Amino acid sequence: MSERESAAFTYGSYLKVDELLQLQQPRSDEHDEILFIVIHQVYELWFREMLHELDRVMELLRQDMGDRAQHTLKRVLTILKVLVAQVDILETMTPLEFLTFRNRLAAASGFQSDQFRQIEFVLGSKSRASIERFGEGTRARAALDARWGAPTLWDAFLHYLRREGYDIPPAQLSRDVTAPIEASLEVQEVLIDVYRNDPRNSELCERLVDLDEGIQEWRYRHVKMVERTIGRKPGTGVSAGAEYLRSTLARPAFPDLWEIRASL
Ligand code: HEM
Repeated sequence: MSERESAAFTYGSYLKVDELLQLQQPRSDEHDEILFIVIHQVYELWFREMLHELDRVMELLRQDMGDRAQHTLKRVLTILKVLVAQVDILETMTPLEFLTFRNRLAAASGFQSDQFRQIEFVLGSKSRASIERFGEGTRARAALDARWGAPTLWDAFLHYLRREGYDIPPAQLSRDVTAPIEASLEVQEVLIDVYRNDPRNSELCERLVDLDEGIQEWRYRHVKMVERTIGRKPGTGVSAGAEYLRSTLARPAFPDLWEIRASL
């Protein structure tokens, strides 16, 4: 970088602050709409960062760097804590304040967040319907398509355990990565062995449980926020609202890690 270029390079130009501040475009003059937009944009930025880090965790597992993977997972978990805590901010908006601009949202809904779906895909919960909601040729569609056929975090973890010397059943190692992750008694036996005899990898398992629990925690806080803000009203998206969201609550991403608790 030349001297002139480096003098012109500032905090604002590096972070594109001017552009960033242009991106909040309320559809009403209502005071609370800016908060609503900012919160959602911040979530999308954190989703972006989480995906960046989750891709790194999978890469580190592929390179057999379990300790580094664990370190990166801790970063993801810390972000997740912030995501859960941020719900508090939006909960300062009362139902009546939300109603001042809710009708301007038309059919827009967090349901259409492709990055949230990408996180679900990485955690093994994939669906074609989630992809087909996005038009051909869009960034969202391309990103989801790429993740559809890619191994999930759980797949990366099982392959890693295999290379660590554990007897992971071949059927699990060659499973269809687009299918939901089903509980497996054979994998559970391996995991019990890991917990009893392998402190290093059992810590990695615990971080995966933290991740699974963290996502469930976010879902719980989100549904409670929805219940206190719109009650039983349907969503602006396609669903029945809180009732649909409650149905997503008790689905662990990594069932085997929960199943083994009773046998430890
Ligand atoms: C007043 C605040 C909010 C209300 C009333 C609300 C309402 C809803 C409702 C009713 C749904 C179900 C789909 C639908 O029919 O629209 C939904 C889904 C969703 N919302 Fe929100 N939401 C709020 C804030 C947020 C925030 C801040 C985020 C952060 C990104 C978010 C992300 C999501 C996501 C990712 C889904 C899909 C969940 C799934 O399918 O499992 N929402 N929201």
